[in-house]
Amino acid sequence: MQVQAYNLMACSFLLFLLFPYIISTNIHACKQTERTSLLSFASALSSPPLNWTAVDCCHWKGITCNQDGWVIHLLLPSKGLKGGISLTSLGNLTHLTHLNLSHNSLYGSLQTQFFLSLNRLKILDLSYNLLSEELPLSLPSNNIRILDLSSNHFYGAIPSSFFHQASNLISFNVSNNTFTGHVPSSICLHASPFLRILDFSSNEFSGNLAPGLGECFELQIFHAGHNNLSGLLPEDIYNATKLEEISLPLNSLHGAVSDKIVNLTDLAILDLDFNNFGGELPLKMGKLSKLKVVILDFNNFEGALPSSLMNCTNLVELRLGSNNLEGDISKLDFSRLSQLTKLDMWYNNFTGTVPVSLYSCRSLKAIRLTRNHLEGQIQAEILSLKSLSFLSLGYNRFTNLTGAMKILMSCKSLHVLLLTGSFKGEGIPTDDDMVDFDGFHNLLFLSLARSDLIGQIPMWLSKLKNLEILQLGFNQITGPIPSWLGTLPRLFYISLPNNRISGEFPKQLCRLPRLLYEPISSQAEQYEIELPVYGRIVTTRTFPSQKLAFYRAWIDVANNNIVGDIPAEIDQLHHLRGLVLSSNNFSGIIPDEISYLKYLEILDLSTNHLSGIIPSSLTSLNFLKYFNASYNNLEGPIPTGTQLQSFNASAFEGNPKLCGAPLPKKCGQNKSIDADNKNNKDVDNELHHLPWFYVFAALGFILGFWGVFGSLIINKTWRYAYFQFTDNLQDRLYVMVTVCINMMKRRLRS
Ligand SMILES: *[C@@H]1O[C@H](CO)[C@@H](O)[C@H](O)[C@H]1NC(C)=O
Ligand SMILES: *[C@@H]1O[C@H](CO)[C@@H](O)[C@H](O)[C@H]1NC(C)=O
Ligand SMILES: *[C@@H]1O[C@H](CO)[C@@H](O)[C@H](O)[C@H]1NC(C)=O
Ligand SMILES: *[C@@H]1O[C@H](CO)[C@@H](O)[C@H](O)[C@H]1NC(C)=O
Ligand SMILES: *[C@@H]1O[C@H](CO)[C@@H](O)[C@H](O)[C@H]1NC(C)=O
Ligand SMILES: *[C@@H]1O[C@H](CO)[C@@H](O)[C@H](O)[C@H]1NC(C)=O
Ligand SMILES: *[C@@H]1O[C@H](CO)[C@@H](O)[C@H](O)[C@H]1NC(C)=O
Ligand SMILES: *[C@@H]1O[C@H](CO)[C@@H](O)[C@H](O)[C@H]1NC(C)=O
Ligand SMILES: *[C@@H]1O[C@H](CO)[C@@H](O)[C@H](O)[C@H]1NC(C)=O
Ligand SMILES: *[C@@H]1O[C@H](CO)[C@@H](O)[C@H](O)[C@H]1NC(C)=O
Ligand SMILES: *[C@@H]1O[C@H](CO)[C@@H](O)[C@H](O)[C@H]1NC(C)=O
Ligand SMILES: *[C@@H]1O[C@H](CO)[C@@H](O)[C@H](O)[C@H]1NC(C)=O
Repeated sequence: MQVQAYNLMACSFLLFLLFPYIISTNIHACKQTERTSLLSFASALSSPPLNWTAVDCCHWKGITCNQDGWVIHLLLPSKGLKGGISLTSLGNLTHLTHLNLSHNSLYGSLQTQFFLSLNRLKILDLSYNLLSEELPLSLPSNNIRILDLSSNHFYGAIPSSFFHQASNLISFNVSNNTFTGHVPSSICLHASPFLRILDFSSNEFSGNLAPGLGECFELQIFHAGHNNLSGLLPEDIYNATKLEEISLPLNSLHGAVSDKIVNLTDLAILDLDFNNFGGELPLKMGKLSKLKVVILDFNNFEGALPSSLMNCTNLVELRLGSNNLEGDISKLDFSRLSQLTKLDMWYNNFTGTVPVSLYSCRSLKAIRLTRNHLEGQIQAEILSLKSLSFLSLGYNRFTNLTGAMKILMSCKSLHVLLLTGSFKGEGIPTDDDMVDFDGFHNLLFLSLARSDLIGQIPMWLSKLKNLEILQLGFNQITGPIPSWLGTLPRLFYISLPNNRISGEFPKQLCRLPRLLYEPISSQAEQYEIELPVYGRIVTTRTFPSQKLAFYRAWIDVANNNIVGDIPAEIDQLHHLRGLVLSSNNFSGIIPDEISYLKYLEILDLSTNHLSGIIPSSLTSLNFLKYFNASYNNLEGPIPTGTQLQSFNASAFEGNPKLCGAPLPKKCGQNKSIDADNKNNKDVDNELHHLPWFYVFAALGFILGFWGVFGSLIINKTWRYAYFQFTDNLQDRLYVMVTVCINMMKRRLRS
C-alpha cells in the first residue's frame, strides 16, 4: 500500500514539475503580447479580413510559432492586403525569422527602428507592394539571408552602411524601384561570401559600376539592366567565376567585352542589349560551353562573329542585331547548335548566303537576317525547320522570290514572313507561278513591301485564310484592288501605298469580317512573336513589344491611281482605326457615313478630287488624331466643334472654296459685292502670303520631324528609334513629306 502511495505522490510531483511544459507543447498557446501585435498589424489593414479569430494566434492563417509559442513565420503573400504596414506592431514580433508579405498593396516605409528589432529575421520578402521612401541605414542583423524589396516605390541611394551586417546574405533583389546613386558593388567587400543573387535592375542607378563584384566568389546572378549606368565593365567581374547570368540591358555601358570572360565557365546568360559596347567579340567565347542566351542587340560590336561560338552547343538564343558585325556567314557551321531556337542577326554587315548548316538547327523558331548584304536564294532545305514560325529576310539581296514563296508556303508553322525590301524589282509570284497553290496555312503576317515588285495582286493570296496583316506598299503593283481581299476572314491590316493600283475602291472591301463586328479577340493579339518587331516608338526604358497587337485595323492605299467614289458602305468597317486614301483620284463627296467609323484615329483624304462639303457628322469622330482633307475641291464651311478645329489649317488647305476655322478665310455671311471684293482681296492676300506660309509650314514640318528624331540621329540609337516606326508610320511620314512637297510645288506654280 505504502509503495503505491509513494508512487502516486512521485507521479503527481513529476506531473506538477512538468505541467508548464505539457501546457506549452500541447496547447501551444501564443504569447499575449504577440497576439496583440498581430491584431494591431491586422487592424491597420483595410481589407479583406484576415479571419484571425481563434484564441491561439499560433493557429492563425499565415502564422507559425516555435515550441515556445513565439511567432516565427508570418507568411501572407498575395492575400490582397491593403493599407499601411504597421511596422511598430510587427517590430514587436522579435522572434520572427520569415516575413513574406509579397504581392499585396501595403504602403509605408521601412523604419530603422522596426528593422533593428527584427534581428532574427532570415527571410524578408516585401516585393510587389507600394512601400516607399529610403532604405534604413542598415540591415537588421547578420542573420538575414534573403531580402526581396523588388517592385515597390523605394527611392534614394542605398546607404553603403546597409550591408555592414550582411555576412549571411544570399539574395538581394531591389529591382523595379526608383533607387538612385551608384550600384553598391561594394556589397561584396562587406557582405557574405555566400552571396549568389544580386538584382538591381529597373531603377535609376547611374555612374560607373565600381569594382567589387569580383569579391563575390559565389555570385551566380547579376542583374542591373534598365538603369543609367555608364563606363566600362569592371575588370574584376571576370573574377566572379561562378557567374551564370550577367544581365545589363538598357544602360550606357561601353568598352569591349574582355577575353577574360572565358573564365566565367558557368556563364549561361549574357544580356548586354542596348548599350554602347564595342570592339570585337572575344575570339574564344565559344569556350563558354554552357552559354544558352546571348543577347547583344543594339551595341557597336564589330568584326566577325567568332567561329568558336558555333561550339556552344547549348545556345538557345543568339541575338546580335544592330551592331557592326561583318563577315561571310555562309562559312559558319551552325550544325551543332541543335538547341538554337532564335537567331537574330539583323542590321549588321554580314555577307554571303544563308548558311546551309543553319537548316540543321531543328529547334529554330525564329530567324531574322534583315538588313545585311546577304545574297542567293532560299533553299528548299529550310523546310526541315519544322518549328520555324518567324522568318525575316528583308533588305538583303536575295533573288528568286517566286522560288522562295513556293518553298516557304510549305513551312507549316510559319506565322510571320517579312521579306520587305528584298528581291528588288522581281515579279510578284503570279497565279500561274503558284498553280494549285496550297500553303501558308498559318501565316498571320506577310510583308512584301518596298521591293519594287512588278505585277498584280495575285489570287493565291486569297487562300491565306489566317492572314491578319498584309503589307504590299512601295512596289510597282498595277491593276485593281481585288474584291476578294474583303473576304479574308481574319484580315484587319491592309497596306498598299505607293503602287500603281488603279480601278475603284471595291465595295466588298467594306465587308472585311474582322472589322464589321465587335472585335473577336485576335489571334495576332494573343500570339507572342518570337522576336520583338521594332514597330513602335519606344523610350529606352521599355522593351519593344513582342505582340502583334500594336497593329491596328488599318487600310492604306495612298499614292495610287484609284478612281471613283469613296463607297458609302465604308461605314460597315466599324473597327477601322486608320483610313488613308490620299494622293489618288477619288472623286465625289466625302460620305457622311464615314462618321460611323467611331474608332477612327487617322483619316487622310488629301490630294484627291473630292468635292462638296465636309459632312458635319465628322465632328463626332472623337478619337481622330490625324485628319487631312487638303487639296481637294471641298467647299463651304468647315463644320465647327472641338474636333476638326483642333487640326492645323494645313489639313484643309488647297480647297479654295472651303472656309472657316482653322483656315484663315472667314465664311462670308452675305453675298454683297463688298464682301465679294473683300474676298477677292483676301484671296489676293492669300496668294501673296501663301507660298511663304507653305514654305514655312513645310519647313516647320521638316524641322519638327528632325527636331524630334534628328537628335536621336546624333548617336547611334537613332537606328533603333528609326525602326520603331511601323511600316505604316514610315509610309505615312513618307506620304506626308510627299504631300508637303507637292503642296509647295503647286503653290509656287500658282
Ligand atoms: C477570410 O474568410 C473569408 C470568408 O470565408 C474569405 O473569403 C477570405 O479569403 C478569408 N481571408 C483570408 C485572408 O484567408
Ligand atoms: C510593442 O512593444 C512596446 C514596448 O515593448 C509596447 O509599448 C507597444 O505597445 C507594443 N506594441 C504593440 C502593438 O503591441
Ligand atoms: C513569398 O511567397 C511567395 C508566394 O508564395 C513565394 O513565391 C516567394 O518565393 C516567397 N518569398 C520567399 C523569399 O520565399
Ligand atoms: C527580382 O524581383 C523581380 C520582381 O520584382 C523578379 O521579376 C526578378 O526575377 C527577381 N530577380 C531575380 C534574380 O530573381
Ligand atoms: C514593377 O512594379 C510595378 C509596381 O510598382 C508592377 O506593377 C510591375 O508589374 C513590376 N514590373 C515587373 C517587371 O515586375
Ligand atoms: C543618366 O546619366 C547621365 C550622365 O551619365 C545624366 O546626364 C542623365 O541625366 C541621366 N539620366 C537619367 C534619366 O537619370
Ligand atoms: C582577380 O583575381 C586574381 C587572382 O585571384 C587577382 O590576382 C586579380 O587581381 C583579380 N583581379 C581583379 C581585377 O580584381
Ligand atoms: C582567368 O583566365 C586566365 C587565362 O585565360 C588565367 O590566367 C587567370 O588566372 C584566370 N583567372 C581566374 C581568376 O581564374
Ligand atoms: C570547337 O571544339 C572542338 C573540340 O571540342 C575544338 O577542336 C575546336 O577547335 C573548337 N572550335 C573553335 C572554333 O573553337
Ligand atoms: C557596313 O559597312 C560600311 C562600310 O564598310 C559602313 O559604312 C556601314 O556603316 C556598315 N553598316 C553597319 C550597319 O555596320
Ligand atoms: C527559283 O527557285 C525555284 C525553287 O527553288 C527553282 O526551281 C528555280 O530554278 C529558281 N529560279 C532561278 C531563276 O534560279
Ligand atoms: C482622274 O479621273 C478622271 C476621271 O474621273 C480622269 O479624267 C483623270 O485623268 C484622272 N486623273 C488622273 C491623274 O488619273
